[in-house]
Amino acid sequence: MEGVWGNREVPAVSFKEDGAAALEWAARYLERVGDYPVLAQVQPGDITARLPASPPEQGEPFADVLRDLDEILLPGITHWQSPRFFAYFAVSAAEPGILAELLAATLNSVAFLWRTSPASTELEALTLGWTAQLLGLPAGWHGHIEDTASTSTIAALAAAREATGRGAVVCSEHAHSSVDKAAKLLGLELRKVPSDDEYRLRVDALDLSDAAALVATVGTTSTASVDPVPELADACAESGVWLHVDAAYAGSAWVCPELRWSQAGVDRADSLVVNAHKWLFTPMDCSLLWSRRPEDLRRAFSLVPEFLRTSDGVDSLSEYGPALGRRFRSLKLWAVLRCYGRAGLQARIREAVRLAEKFEKWVEEGPRWEVCAPRHFSLVCFRRDGSDEENEAIVERVNRSGEVFLSHTRLDGRYVLRLAIGNERTSEDDVRRAWEALNAD
Ligand SMILES: Cc1ncc(COP(=O)(O)O)c(C=O)c1O
Repeated sequence: MEGVWGNREVPAVSFKEDGAAALEWAARYLERVGDYPVLAQVQPGDITARLPASPPEQGEPFADVLRDLDEILLPGITHWQSPRFFAYFAVSAAEPGILAELLAATLNSVAFLWRTSPASTELEALTLGWTAQLLGLPAGWHGHIEDTASTSTIAALAAAREATGRGAVVCSEHAHSSVDKAAKLLGLELRKVPSDDEYRLRVDALDLSDAAALVATVGTTSTASVDPVPELADACAESGVWLHVDAAYAGSAWVCPELRWSQAGVDRADSLVVNAHKWLFTPMDCSLLWSRRPEDLRRAFSLVPEFLRTSDGVDSLSEYGPALGRRFRSLKLWAVLRCYGRAGLQARIREAVRLAEKFEKWVEEGPRWEVCAPRHFSLVCFRRDGSDEENEAIVERVNRSGEVFLSHTRLDGRYVLRLAIGNERTSEDDVRRAWEALNAD
């Protein structure tokens, strides 16, 4: 039978040579990433128009893939690894994590059962334990990795529904849209509670009747505000409601003891999500979900068909979330934790916070600028005096310049700019360039 193995037309791929070229590409990219326009300067459809509409009949050399990555795809990349990426929540894929991704793809483990990759299953438990220690979380929580916080929250709310048999989810008006999505998917009613003048959930407006779960956010998406978790934990305990804490962004800050004030009450959560791919320097995707009630997660998700039945009696992490096939995500987290250590993580988090403080000061002292929300971590919300349209025009101008990339939110009906620092390569000079770009009109 004629197949790819017997087909001489298929060019031999030299894994070592192509691998060296790919690694060289990655190293050069990281050296130069600050030279590219941060936001891709292309129009919708530009990239598609430059690519063949149909796949090749015969295999092509890998070198062609690298060439097209440079020539066609790179102009269409928004550079999340750029030191002047300040939009949404800025992230970093650290070099040990990038290399570990290559190794994880090489192993290509599919860890749906312990025996299909014992090392993957056990390293996942171990790295979640290590991270819990680094963040100062209670010992003994069950942890596993999902792809994103969206999936982690779906898993937590499914467990809450299972545990309580109730039909509503309560969160603040500033909770992330992933909570809305999870509620929609799980057929739960979503009730939003107004927030106070510092964008924290108002406990006095809380109604937990028929609530399966309350989602408290530590580090909201718009302003990184921190909901009053201790009071919310009291209310949940009184009403038998599952407390899920979404610390997707800010949870990583707990590696620094001086930022652990924001962890108050989290030890009483039923579940907690922290995205290692947000501010723990781990490449996308790596969302850490801990629970002190793993049996409820298991009841919500465990389904073992005959072909997956084993007699080893060991836990399969696929029984704690929606996905069956699970990739070896813990390898990249383990690599980052080992190569950076507690001290390296702390130094990076502290530097981001220091730079945000610096920027906040410039805004406070800038004659036409104002800070629009309390700054707790590395996110600054601000605007210039003037209309929403004028502020929107500033964001569009600086983003179009390619010099920096910022995003926005709306607070109290006003258009507000956000500068989020989180990339490990960001220096004071990069933040200064953002300030100069904002003032360059
Ligand atoms: C507070 C918060 N929760 C959840 C999410 C969703 O994260 P993911 O993209 O991993 O689903 C985000 C994304 O920015 C977020 O800021």
